Order: sequence, then C-alpha cells, then structure tokens
Amino acid sequence: FEIYLNGLNDVLPSLPADLTRLEALAREKLPPEAYDYIAGSAGTGDTAVANREAFRRRRIVPRMLRGVTGGDLSTRVLGAELPAPLLLGPVGVLRIAHPEGELAVARAARSLGLPMVLSTAASHSMEEVAEVAGPRWYQLYWPGDRDLAVSFLERAAAAGYTALVVTLDTFTLAWRPGDLDNAYLPFLRGVGIQNYLADPVFTAEAGEDPIAHWAGVFGNPGLTWDDLAFLREHWDGPIALKGIQQSDDARRAVDAGMDGIVVSNHGGRQVDGAVASLDALPIVAHAVGDQIEVLFDSGVRTGADVVKALALGAKAVLLGRPYVYGLALDGEEGVRHVLRCLLAELELTLRLSGHDGVAALSSESLFEQPT
Ligand code: FNR
Repeated sequence: FEIYLNGLNDVLPSLPADLTRLEALAREKLPPEAYDYIAGSAGTGDTAVANREAFRRRRIVPRMLRGVTGGDLSTRVLGAELPAPLLLGPVGVLRIAHPEGELAVARAARSLGLPMVLSTAASHSMEEVAEVAGPRWYQLYWPGDRDLAVSFLERAAAAGYTALVVTLDTFTLAWRPGDLDNAYLPFLRGVGIQNYLADPVFTAEAGEDPIAHWAGVFGNPGLTWDDLAFLREHWDGPIALKGIQQSDDARRAVDAGMDGIVVSNHGGRQVDGAVASLDALPIVAHAVGDQIEVLFDSGVRTGADVVKALALGAKAVLLGRPYVYGLALDGEEGVRHVLRCLLAELELTLRLSGHDGVAALSSESLFEQPT
C-alpha cells in the first residue's frame, strides 16, 4: 500500500516492480563489458534459458477458502532463523556494477534481516563487509593451496560468518563467449581478488605479482569427495555444497556429513546444455528427504518463482542476477527495492494461492504442463 499511497501525491517508484525489466535498464547504465559479465552465461545460453523455461512449465494451482490470515514467511536454515526463505547468493566482483559493491549489498540485506552469502571473489574483503553486514555466510572457492584455504576459513569465522557455502561447479571459469569477445575478466584487472590481497598467507606467497599468483591458486580441479573431511576439520559451523544437480551427488553430500546442498547450475554460467536447475530440484530433494537441507538457485526472478522452488522441495532460495541489476541501477536502495518487491510478491502469491505460510507448500501446489 505504501506505493499506492505515494501515488496519491504523484510520487512514483523510481524502479519497476516487475523485476524482469531491471536487466534491460541495467544494460543501459553499465559499461558493456560489465553488463556482459553479469548477464552472460556459458556457451549459447541454452541452460540459462532452460532455467527460466522450467519455471514457466510449472504453474501454481490456487486453492480457495482456506483461511489464509497468517502468511508466515519465516523459516530456519542451517541453524539460522530467517525472516523469509530468501538469501542473497554469492556474486563476486560487485564493484563492476557499483562503486560500493558488496558493501551496498550487505547494507540492504541487513536492513531486511536477510543473510548475505559473501563470495570468495568479492571486490571488498570479508572483514570490510562484515563491518556493515547483518547475518552473513561465507562462500568458499576452495583454492589449490591448503594453507590459504584454512586462512580463509579462519578469517571468515573470526569475522562472524556463521555458515560456509562451498561452490563445487567453478574450479575453473567456463566457456563464456560474451567475456571472450570482450577479452574481459575482472580478476585480471585486480577486481574480485580482494579477499586474497587481504590474506597474510596469500601476500606472503604472492610476492610482486598477486594477479599471476591468484591465477595459480584459484582453481582446484583435483578435489574429490574425500577432501571434504579436511573442511569439516577446519570449519565448526554448518557447511553446504553449492552446485549439486544430481541425486547420487546429493546422497554423497549426506554421507560426507554436510549440513546442506544448494541445487544450482550457477545461473547457467558453467555447463551450457546442463539440466535446468528447477528440473533437478525435485529429483535431488526426493533422494535426500530430510537428511540434509536443500537450498536452490538459478533462474529465480519473481515471488511466484520462489513459491515454485519451495513447493518442489527447497527450504530457501538464493537470488543472483536480479539484485545485481538493482545494485547497478541504484546502489543499496536498488538492492533493497529488489528484495522488498520479491518478498511482497512472495507473500501475496502464497496467500492468494491458498497457502497460510511457506510450510503449507508441497508438490500438490503445482501443476506441470506437458511439453
Ligand atoms: C555468480 N555466481 C557465483 N557463485 C559463487 O558461488 N561464487 C561467486 O563468486 C559467483 N559469482 C557470480 C558472479 C556473477 C556476475 C553471477 C551472475 C553469478 C553464481 C550465483 O551465486 C548464483 O548461483 C546464480 O547467479 C544464480 O542464478 P541467477 O539467479 O543469476 O539466475
């Protein structure tokens, strides 16, 4: 109602309520190479498109006369009480979208009590972000240098990051034609290596050329399931594995003593032609049941999308590109706009479809259209 009441005084919102329109607006504002890096996907973009199509194929089936007076969005994920089943997913190099980058995102997330998952590839160090952030989790790109990995974990714990999200699908960057055509990689220009530059182990080893050293330690393609025991030894809080798309992998995460998984294909940025993340979700969720907490990302653009992901077994969703477009357009305020729109639409969609809170959602809340 706030928006409608403002309208009585001819005050209109500066950003659209339809979040799918933000991308085109951000494109007008951002330098082309920054836009392409953020919006881009792997290969032909097939998987990024499939992520959206998987949402369109599923329809919410509204139920009536169910006394929907509550509409409680709160939930508990990896030991944290969340006001809504929504987190700001880890996105690196945010300074290419806005000078305040991760700091603006952290402030917006804090104002709504939503956790921010800070990327290893952030363009502000985890300590700087912690100073302005509310609830915070740390995303690890596990470097091919164990001392450095341990140092990252110790710093994250000391700076108040409560849960660890280990991203498995990006031990090297994928074939991304947009970035190749622009010959643009932010890291090689010194953006997104700020967690490395602030690290005593890294600086001791890097010597004169930190960017070359980063390129040498960033990837870790030799990792296997056995290595997870090492992480457990060095991180006391909950751990979630991000990038799971398959049920055996999900079961292995349970066997490895992990606390959560994020069903994700990195927004279609890694394996072009990969299964749509929303199609993988119900299969994976069914395979693990209640043995591990299942989170989801890739393709979430609306409150209705959140409803669909929760109905298919996700406990919460992570948002990617939409909040980055909000950041590009209006800094902290733009991110808050995106989050508030999404939360309001989620709450309305839930209640209008007859669900008195997120716990009332199930696969019966959806209809899958035949292809
Ligand atoms: C990402 N993502 C990502 N993931 C991660 O674990 N660490 C990271 O540093 C990044 N960096 C990153 C940069 C940019 C520009 C984008 C768009 C994405 C992936 C991100 O966490 C998430 O999986 C996807 O963005 C989800 O898909 P949507 O919501 O963008 O469709």
